[in-house]
Amino acid sequence: MAVLNGSLSCFEQMDDVQFSHWTSLLEQRTGMHLPRERRSFLETSLGLRMKEIGIPDFTAYYHHLQSEKNGQQEWLTLVDRLTIHETRFFRHQPSLDFLEEIILPELFKSEPDRKKLQIWSAGCSTGEEVYTLGMLCQQFLKQHNNRAVSKPCYLAITGMDISVPALVTARKALYDQYKVRHVPEQYLEEYFVAQHNGRYQIVEALKKRVCFVPFNIIDMKKTLLEPMDIIFCQNVLIYFNRDRRKQIIQHLVKRLKPGGFLVLGAGESLNNPHPELEQISYPNALAFRRSELVS
Ligand SMILES: C[S@@+](CC[C@H](N)C(=O)[O-])C[C@H]1O[C@@H](n2cnc3c(N)ncnc32)[C@H](O)[C@@H]1O
Repeated sequence: MAVLNGSLSCFEQMDDVQFSHWTSLLEQRTGMHLPRERRSFLETSLGLRMKEIGIPDFTAYYHHLQSEKNGQQEWLTLVDRLTIHETRFFRHQPSLDFLEEIILPELFKSEPDRKKLQIWSAGCSTGEEVYTLGMLCQQFLKQHNNRAVSKPCYLAITGMDISVPALVTARKALYDQYKVRHVPEQYLEEYFVAQHNGRYQIVEALKKRVCFVPFNIIDMKKTLLEPMDIIFCQNVLIYFNRDRRKQIIQHLVKRLKPGGFLVLGAGESLNNPHPELEQISYPNALAFRRSELVS
């Protein structure tokens, strides 16, 4: 019996070679960086899953994941277990204030009769970030479209994540009472319908404006997305090493329209992340605008 974090665990311990194989596999396929200090997390997560499916040891499980028959499906389950999906509605108020006070007014100032506002939430987890952005943008668009003389502008938000189970939850758009505790009353009334079982369903009008797509942020070449006006990528880069983060930013920049905005998690400090990005100073938010003059 192994001792993990001071407690007794029935899971096998990994030797150095096994740890190195597993971390290389995870880094290669997901970009996820697991330092030595997270070894017991890896042992426990793998151990729990191996117990569920009756696989006796780490090496057998490693080979199982490479198998053509069930490996791919099992990989999706394992990735979901190893990734952290913590999220909530209205999670980071300064970034949302930045969206309302700077991004939206600026985008409509530079293109007042735009017909589309396209947003991408990269690493959207179970959808709370996507619907939060949706509610705030719909509020803005209501006012804008009332004033507009030409056709209304419509909103399209794409949420993307490597975890398929997280995306399934996001698509259901059904949240329990605890999950909606941070939603301001006004938004709760307008964008949710209370269900008999105490849960809250996002209204159809907002659901129609969003879609959720599986993707791997380190493999963005495969994503066929039009360039975006706004990209939110919050609390995702922290799981990658410095080189990967740089690579990811390069790909995100390519998917931004010239003049589009990139909003990262406030703690994800990056010095000079890209020559085409200008950092916009705003209290407690980490935000950039892509230069209008791009080659
Ligand atoms: C902590 S959550 C952040 C959710 C949301 N952005 C927020 O700030 O509330 C991180 C998300 O990144 C996703 N993720 C991790 N590695 C990924 C990868 N390689 N490609 C796409 N998504 C990834 C995880 O599945 C998880 O849902």
